[in-house]
Amino acid sequence: MSKKTQFASKIGLIAATVGSAIGLGNVWRFPAETQANGGAAFLLLYVGCVLVLGIPVMLAEFSLGRAGHSDAVGAFKNLKARRGWWIVGGLAILASYLILTYYMVVAGWTLEYLFETLTGSLYSSADAAAGNLQAQYAGKMEAFICSDFEPLVFTWIVTGINICILLGGVQKGIERLSNVLMPLLFVILAGLICVTLSLPGAGKGVEFFLAPDFSKITPEVFVSALGQAFFSLSLGMGILITYASYYPADTRLTRTSVIVALLSLLVAVMMGMIIFPAVKSFGLDNEPLRGATLVFVTLPEVFARMPLSSLWSGLFFILLFVAAITSTVSIAEVSIACLQDRFNMSRRRACLTAMLPILVLSALNSLSFGSLSSFTIFGMTIFDFLDNFTTNILLPVVSIGVCVYMGWFAPKGLLKSELSNGGSLRSRATGPVLFIIRYIAPLLIALILIYNYL
Ligand code: PFF
Repeated sequence: MSKKTQFASKIGLIAATVGSAIGLGNVWRFPAETQANGGAAFLLLYVGCVLVLGIPVMLAEFSLGRAGHSDAVGAFKNLKARRGWWIVGGLAILASYLILTYYMVVAGWTLEYLFETLTGSLYSSADAAAGNLQAQYAGKMEAFICSDFEPLVFTWIVTGINICILLGGVQKGIERLSNVLMPLLFVILAGLICVTLSLPGAGKGVEFFLAPDFSKITPEVFVSALGQAFFSLSLGMGILITYASYYPADTRLTRTSVIVALLSLLVAVMMGMIIFPAVKSFGLDNEPLRGATLVFVTLPEVFARMPLSSLWSGLFFILLFVAAITSTVSIAEVSIACLQDRFNMSRRRACLTAMLPILVLSALNSLSFGSLSSFTIFGMTIFDFLDNFTTNILLPVVSIGVCVYMGWFAPKGLLKSELSNGGSLRSRATGPVLFIIRYIAPLLIALILIYNYL
């Protein structure tokens, strides 16, 4: 086996994996899904899905990656998987690359909003005096996101930042970055929570978020909760397989998966504790809190109504940017590892080969809100098509593939050996994990795949 890069420290390995998991999925998608699906009841199901299904599937990916000791395709090949199992890895790489092309655009928006906050153009006193803040911020979003030039420039800046980090390599680039940014993320979250909880009427938002109304639980809510759990843990994207290939042999996989899942949950909950009290306090909960509008219209509106708008907004968009960048580097690493391991490319060559086309592909996604908005695929813009195709089809298919392979076809005893570090630890988790990845997770994911298309 070739000598492969490894994470340098236990903390760094956790920071990088947590950095990958905590992304726009937690800070952007989660509150919007919670709002759309009835609040606390959704939260409860989401927590259940992360703990009962997410952690076992994460362990399947970790075990595959560390034992396979290679990129997502190479892992299957190294384990001598027969009959084209490597295609599952190939689909993971395809999914990760397609996601990267549009996630970079959203990461660019967060940087653009940070820039507009710092230059003062997001919050001017004239705007506040003119009234109807919602219409104003909807207009600003239109101007910032749906134009051709600015969003494209910011998308490219973010892509450039990613390239610089990735050229640094796993230890000096990704691991070092995560060690600094992850603590920063938690500090900003904690600071913003203190601010929003002290707003008048914040309690109503906390209640909506934390006191479940069980009558709101429906099959649709369950489907959304499971989808959110998988997305927020970065499952089915090849990221965890790739990162686990950089884990040393003595890394405790079960402990790592529990820490990553709990921290990812914690961030989602903290985010809810920021958004719902603030939104309720200003009576904005009737506005459509969907996707982009929540973060780019409703929250700026909240900040505009608070004293020190630019400070809170600046901190918030730094938070969002940090979440985005540690996730984009992780997803880019999937393709880079593949080029290095499959084609024996140097790090530098692999980085540039993977990332330079992203400049062009992300531009298409960015322009799909501007000049290319009338260009559609199956009636969707390029951005929406890629988002739907990856999250609704590719990610579930890859997750099913990994579960079925690790549950039924992997070399005998592989999971047990990985979870017990070759027998040196007791691993009580193996039985339950095997049961879930054999019987429960693939069936539920398959049902969701079908349900989404009924
Ligand atoms: N768990 C990540 C998130 O919640 O954003 C998933 C992810 C998506 C990672 C897109 C990386 C990425 F580019």
